[in-house]
Amino acid sequence: MSGEYERAFHEAVSNPEKFWGAAATKVRWYRHYDQVLTSDNPPFYRWFEGGMVNSCYNALDYHVEQGLKDRIALIYDSPVTKTVKKFTYGELRDLVARCAGGLQALGVLKGDRVVIYMPMIPEAVIAMLACARIGAIHSVVFGGFASRELATRIEDAKPSLIVSASCGIEVNRIIPYKPLLDAALAQCSHKPSKCIVVQRKEAPVDLVEGRDLSWETLLEAEPVPCVPVNSTDPLYLLYTSGTTGKPKGVLRDNGGHLVALTWSMENIYGVRPGEVFWAASDIGWVVGHSYIVYGPLFYGCTTILYEGKSVGTPDPGAFWRVIAEHGVSVLFCAPTAFRAIRKEDPHGDYIKKYDLSGIRLLFLAGERCDPDTLLWARAQLGVPVIDHWWQTETGWAIGANCAGLEMLPVKPGSCTKPVPGYDISVLDAAGRDAPAGETGNVVVKMPLPPGCFTTLWNNDTDFVKTYFSAYPGYYLTSDAGFIDTDGYLWIMGRTDDIINVAGHRLSTGAMEEVLASHPDVAECAVSGVHDPVKGEVPLGFVVLKAGVITQQDQIESELIAMIRQKIGPIASFKAAAVVKRLPKTRSGKILRGTIKKIADGVPYSVPATIDDPVILDEITGILREMGYPKR
Ligand code: COA
Ligand code: AMP
Repeated sequence: MSGEYERAFHEAVSNPEKFWGAAATKVRWYRHYDQVLTSDNPPFYRWFEGGMVNSCYNALDYHVEQGLKDRIALIYDSPVTKTVKKFTYGELRDLVARCAGGLQALGVLKGDRVVIYMPMIPEAVIAMLACARIGAIHSVVFGGFASRELATRIEDAKPSLIVSASCGIEVNRIIPYKPLLDAALAQCSHKPSKCIVVQRKEAPVDLVEGRDLSWETLLEAEPVPCVPVNSTDPLYLLYTSGTTGKPKGVLRDNGGHLVALTWSMENIYGVRPGEVFWAASDIGWVVGHSYIVYGPLFYGCTTILYEGKSVGTPDPGAFWRVIAEHGVSVLFCAPTAFRAIRKEDPHGDYIKKYDLSGIRLLFLAGERCDPDTLLWARAQLGVPVIDHWWQTETGWAIGANCAGLEMLPVKPGSCTKPVPGYDISVLDAAGRDAPAGETGNVVVKMPLPPGCFTTLWNNDTDFVKTYFSAYPGYYLTSDAGFIDTDGYLWIMGRTDDIINVAGHRLSTGAMEEVLASHPDVAECAVSGVHDPVKGEVPLGFVVLKAGVITQQDQIESELIAMIRQKIGPIASFKAAAVVKRLPKTRSGKILRGTIKKIADGVPYSVPATIDDPVILDEITGILREMGYPKR
C-alpha cells in the first residue's frame, strides 16, 4: 500500500483549506475565491466564498476551448426506442447555449427555479446544463413519481418554468407524462409561466395554448454565453424522501460541487479524461445529477445516458452490450441491477458473448450491497467491485475505496474507508464513541467537505434540526453502522423510516399517510421487507375501522392503486395485509422493526414493552400465508 489514502485523509481533516484549495486549482474560476472555507456560522459552512464560476462552462465550454470540440461528451443509448445518438462536446455546448437562450427569452433569470420532469432523454441533460449556464436553479423530478408528488415539489420550488416531455417509455409500456403534469398543475396554487414539452414520436400530445411551448420553438432562440455566478449560489435543488410525506429540498452550491466532483472523478473513480464513464442511474436521482451529468463532463469524460433496464427482455445481456459497444471503462450502478441480471443469467452466459476487456472498475451504491452479489459481479466481470456509500444530501461518496488514490483491500459488505473530507465516527445514544465492531449512529464531524448540501430549500430550521442537532458538532447521517478494527466502515441500514427499493430512496411514512387516507382504514404501518431482487420492498399492514366488512383482496388492490396513484409505481407497493391490531408498545409506538423481522424470517425477541404479545403470532400466521419470508 502506498499510504496515499492515509495521507490524503489526514490532510483533508487537519487542513481542509490546503487540501481543497489544491483541488480547486483543477477548476476554472472567473474570479478567484477569497477563502476556501468560511466557518463563521456553523452548520452553514461556505466553500470558496468570493469566487465566481459557472458549472456549465466547466462542463462544456472549457473543453471546447481546449480543442476538444469533437470529443464525444454524451452517448444516448435507448434500447426502449432502439436509438443510439452521440453528441460531441461542441454539439452539446451549442444545444445547451441555445436552450439557455430560449429560457432567458422566456424571462428565466439567475436564481429562478426550473422544474425538469422528464424521462432519460438528451433534452433533459441539455435543460439541466442550460439552467446552470444562466444561473437558474434546476429541480429535476424523477419521472416515476405520480402527479401528487410532482405537485408537492412544484408548490415548494415555485418554478418560473417547467420542462417536460410527452411521454416516458418503460420497457414495453408508454407512460404519458403530459397528463401527469397537467394533473399536477391543477393541484398547485403556484402556476409557472410556461411549460416546455418535448414531443416524443411514441406519444405526441396537444399543447395547451398560451401555456405550453414545444422544445423546437425554445431552441429557435439565439445562443447565450455562460453567466458567472457566485461559488455559493445554488446550482440545483433536488427533493428527497424525508421522514414525513413532505420531501426535503436539498440545495447544492456551484463552487464546492464543482471542486468535489472533479476531485472524485480522478481520486475515487480512477477514471481519465476522454474515457467512457457510465452511471446506470436516472437523472431524477442524485447519482444521475453527479455522475451522469456533472462529474464526467467536468472531467472531460464521455458519459452515457441509458434509457432502459439492467435486464432487457429477452436480453439479460443489456448492460454488457452497452459496455462493449461504447467502450465503458468505469461502471456505476445499484446492486439491485446486478441481482436482477444474476436472476436471469446466473452462470453469466450472456456476459461471455461480449468483449468486456475495456472495463476496469465497477462501483456499487444506493443500498446495502450483500457480499454475495458483490462476489458474483467480481467473478463475472473479473474487475474490482467497489461498494461505496453516499446520500442525496452529500452528493458524492462518504465512504469508498478511493481507487484513483490508492486501491485498498476489498472487504465485501463494507464500503471501505471514509473518503478524504469526511471525518466519520460511530456514536451510541449517549454520544460516546462506539467500540470497534459495535453498531451505532454514523455521524460526520463538521464541516462537511465541499459538494455537500448547503441547506434545505427555504428551510434552514429543518436543516439544523434534522441533521445537526442530535449530536452537536456532527452531521447525523441517519444510517446505522460500525467501524471495524481495521478502520473499515460498514453501513447496515437506516435509523429512520426511509427504505431503499431497487436503489430508490422512499419514505414509509409517506406511504402510511396515503394508506391512512383510505376511508376504511383505522390505522396502518408500512415496513420495508427483504426482496431478493429489489433489496427491500414496502409491505403494508392495515387495521380496518369497526364495522367495515371487506375482502382482503379488495382492500389490498385499492390500497395498491392508491399508492401507485399518489406516490407512483416506483414505490413498488404490491402487498398489504389486513390485521386485527398492530403490535405496539404500552406507550403506543408501533413495533415496525419487529414486523420487519417476522416478515424477513429473522429471529426476534418479543419486546419487553409490548402491550399484547399474542398479536405477533397472528401477524406471523398472516405473513406465512402471504409467502413471507421471500428468500
Ligand atoms: N417513469 C414511470 N414509471 C417508472 C419509471 C419512470 N421513469 N421508472 C420506473 N417506473 C415503474 C416501473 O415500470 C415499475 O412499474 P410496475 O410496477 O408497473 O412494473 C415500477 O416503477 C418499479 O420500477 P423499478 O424499481 O425500476 O422496477 P423494475 O421491476 O421495473 O426493474 C430493475 C427492476 C432492478 C431491473 C431496475 O430497477 C434497474 O435496472 N435498476 C437499476 C437502477 C439503478 O441502478 N439505480 C441507481 C439508483 S442510485
Ligand atoms: P439516496 O439519498 O437516495 O442516495 O439514499 C441514501 C441512502 O441509501 C443512505 O442513507 C443509505 O441508507 C443507502 N445507501 C446508499 N449507498 C449505500 C451503500 N453503499 N451501503 C449501504 N447503504 C447505502
